[in-house]
Amino acid sequence: MPIASRLLSWFDAAGRKHLPWQQDPTPYRVWVSEIMLQQTQVSTVIPFYERFMARFPDVHALAAAPLDEVLHLWTGLGYYARARNLHRAARVIVDVHHGHFPRTLESLQALPGIGRSTAGAILAFAYSARYPILDGNVKRVLTRHFGIVGYPGDKKVEAQLWELADRCTPAQRVADYTQAIMDLGAMICVRARPLCMACPLRETCVAHREGRQAELPTPRPRKARPHREAYALILVRGDGAVWLEQRPLQGLWGGLWVFPQFESRERACEYIGRIGRSSCAPRSLPSYSHAFTHFDLTLHPLLVESVEPHREVSEPGGRWLDPSEPAKIGLAKPVVDLMSKLMTGEGDWCCDLLRVRQVAMPD
Ligand code: ADE
Repeated sequence: MPIASRLLSWFDAAGRKHLPWQQDPTPYRVWVSEIMLQQTQVSTVIPFYERFMARFPDVHALAAAPLDEVLHLWTGLGYYARARNLHRAARVIVDVHHGHFPRTLESLQALPGIGRSTAGAILAFAYSARYPILDGNVKRVLTRHFGIVGYPGDKKVEAQLWELADRCTPAQRVADYTQAIMDLGAMICVRARPLCMACPLRETCVAHREGRQAELPTPRPRKARPHREAYALILVRGDGAVWLEQRPLQGLWGGLWVFPQFESRERACEYIGRIGRSSCAPRSLPSYSHAFTHFDLTLHPLLVESVEPHREVSEPGGRWLDPSEPAKIGLAKPVVDLMSKLMTGEGDWCCDLLRVRQVAMPD
């Protein structure tokens, strides 16, 4: 049986038929309801809709009202751009269309706040014209039923869904069909734990057959997390003290102490000469990754042992820290982690100066 027939039978038995905007579905009443329902649930909309209709029973009343009054009646519904667009569109309908509601998809879509799906719903509900709709609920029903993979906001996927929405829309009883597919999405084919056993489409539903309800519709792709890299210079003095810098209060690790960081190995090596001298060449240690909320950082640690500081060295914001003493300063996590690896000193992390200190100076 075609999808539409099964949906219509289900609608006759279980669909919603007593919503206020379904009674006397003039284009004006349908339009206002569809705008209110764009981001808001039916149960929330009903009392707002009733008050709005009582105050603005037709498009002339709405166009003649001051915007402030429209916004006042919208208070509590949220997304106030909807109210401003509604008011602007009412004035266009009165001024440009002489108070007659447009009847074509194009002229409806030209009004502020009306996209293709809302225009389709107005034409279907108010004029019984055969136009598909594709709101969030319908996207969920179609992606699951036809097993459409890909984020529905993606242009190509959306075009495919419009095509399917159009193919499913029947020539007869288009208003009931439109309400039926909306209701199925809102009541049965819900996002989490859909009630497949009560669904009239389950026998042909790809997601149901393959148990893929939880993965369809495909969620919005996460933006790739930015990834940064830096060289962290670990200077170790002959007595095992390490050189740290304090970060500026604002920004990453604000006020904490870190190993000096550089964008290149060359820059890091130049810096060594500012602090002191060493007979040991810089040695690369295994990379260390840290996840921040908005990006990932990979540090390439460079270890320089037996640094003899210049006598006069006093880099602002820098200090030597004896790692065997409990630090009274705030250390950034990479410092704690890298230091602990060096003090354990296994494999690549072998650093005699730090390991010896730990053995020589137990708690
Ligand atoms: N969501 C959008 N339009 C709707 C309608 N006409 N009935 C129920 N929910 C809806």
